[in-house]
Amino acid sequence: MRNVTLTDIFQLPFARKYLKRAGLAHAVTVAQKAYDLACQKGVNADLATKAALLHDIGHYTWYRNGEWDFELYKQNDIHAIKGAERAHKMLIRLGEDPEAAKEIAVAILFHTDSYFKGTVQRTSLQEVVAMADEADEEPNGNHHYKVISEAEAAERLAELDELIAQDSRLQQSV
Ligand SMILES: [Fe+2]
Repeated sequence: MRNVTLTDIFQLPFARKYLKRAGLAHAVTVAQKAYDLACQKGVNADLATKAALLHDIGHYTWYRNGEWDFELYKQNDIHAIKGAERAHKMLIRLGEDPEAAKEIAVAILFHTDSYFKGTVQRTSLQEVVAMADEADEEPNGNHHYKVISEAEAAERLAELDELIAQDSRLQQSV
């Protein structure tokens, strides 16, 4: 039984603020891709979709003279560290199981290898989240600028919640 759904997360104003900053369309698409990959690879889809939805909430806007500055971003970015911490705090507040909150936070921490450059061996959950993110990436960070309405995001997340609930009902009946 899930303590916290994707819909619960999306209802938090704190979550919406950061999800919109890094691109709501990207976050929701990565959650959907993570669901498919998790099913293919036998990974826990509940954890994978939550980590995928929240993977970029640590982003900060790196502007110089009104333009996104990729050099500045590459040099100074710690969005995975910030995102892991924010997600953990948010999940615990919502009543997430502490072990699950930790796994989700660590998957967010390792979704990019910009700090560890291949020195960390990812678990399959962490790999699923990183692969889902890469699958939606576009040149020059354009994936962060794709737009969807909050209503569409809420609908797509509710569909994912339903799929995850169905899977767990199926597992319980086996
Ligand atoms: Fe991303």
